[in-house]
Amino acid sequence: MTRPTAARPADGPAPAPGPAAPVVEPRPHPDPTPAARRRALLAEPPFGEVFTDHMVTARWTPDDGWGRAVLEPFAPLRMSPAAVGLHYGQSVFEGFKAYRRGPDRAVVFRPADHGRRLAASARRMAVPALPTDLFTAATEALVRADLDWIPEGDDRSLYLRPVVFADEPHLALRPARSYLFLLLAFPTGNFFTGGQRAVTVAVSEEYVRAAPGGTGAAKCGGNYAGSYLAQEEAARRGADQVVWLDAVERRYVEELGGMNLFFVHGEGDRAELVTPPLTGTILPGVTRDTLITLARDRGMRVSEAPVSLADWREGCARGRITEVFACGTAARVTSVGKVLTGDGAWTVGEGVPGPVAGRLSALLAAVHRGEEPDPHHWCHVVDRSAPGGRAGRERG
Ligand code: COI
Repeated sequence: MTRPTAARPADGPAPAPGPAAPVVEPRPHPDPTPAARRRALLAEPPFGEVFTDHMVTARWTPDDGWGRAVLEPFAPLRMSPAAVGLHYGQSVFEGFKAYRRGPDRAVVFRPADHGRRLAASARRMAVPALPTDLFTAATEALVRADLDWIPEGDDRSLYLRPVVFADEPHLALRPARSYLFLLLAFPTGNFFTGGQRAVTVAVSEEYVRAAPGGTGAAKCGGNYAGSYLAQEEAARRGADQVVWLDAVERRYVEELGGMNLFFVHGEGDRAELVTPPLTGTILPGVTRDTLITLARDRGMRVSEAPVSLADWREGCARGRITEVFACGTAARVTSVGKVLTGDGAWTVGEGVPGPVAGRLSALLAAVHRGEEPDPHHWCHVVDRSAPGGRAGRERG
């Protein structure tokens, strides 16, 4: 017997249209950067210093929730010196990228996933979550308006920086009643200076980044400010980045600066990846998830398991750990060459970028450029020559 289905008959009423995608009101820059000046700025873009012509803003109030988003000229803000976000750090942010795919086309990598992570960070910091469709609409509007700011070439992209912060002027200790969302963009090349090299890292024995029950899994400003002192100490010891250990036992490796870490066990076809599990103190990196998926799709074994500092040292000494690399949106895939601790230093593999990191990095770049299939629908196309400026979307 065939069971009746919920499908409407061919001549039945059309389903009610879903909610319309949020519209971003365009108030374009009256005097954008001249093309020659923009091209000069794109030649060697420093990280996070030169911003594009526009930004998207939206405001949250208790009565209206998230209101209309506006695309407007990038400009300084006017706000009260008593804004909550300035004093108590009620502020969350994201980082993701758009890549050039021709004169009128770009792809944004996993915007909906970044929108969802921003919402998760917001919940942890008692900030009203921005709806993912508003986040995506803001992204499309900014990338379309500033597409000419996306540099061409390998390792070049447009970094997108959304931030949501409390701007209500009050200094009592309670969550604010007014918030501002800003989406900014800047062209970028390599995060680390000195080209593709393996970085030196120093383990922080004094400070911790995150504790159980804390905010380690949220992308909030305080996590980064709290890391600067340890980062400065690492730099004084001659390292590029600081390695964070768990707060309880000070034994297990958690993150590297603002990046997730991967350990390569074995070599060649038998190489396996191990990365620390997301237990609440580690940021759930979108690049981390992308690399896990790309590796598994290609038949590589990937485990999420704790890695102690002692395992790291011994694994390198015995040749069991052949490579270690970090990943993040800004730094992409970065090999670790040398580890400094208060109790001695060691080299990882040959101390240079390894083949597994190289393969995964090339694969990731090929997905960004559209030279590899995109079965997970990570690439969200923005096409300013298409009607509505859009040609295809990431799932989600
Ligand atoms: C990223 O990888 O995009 C990060 O979040 C690091 C950033 C804070 C520079």
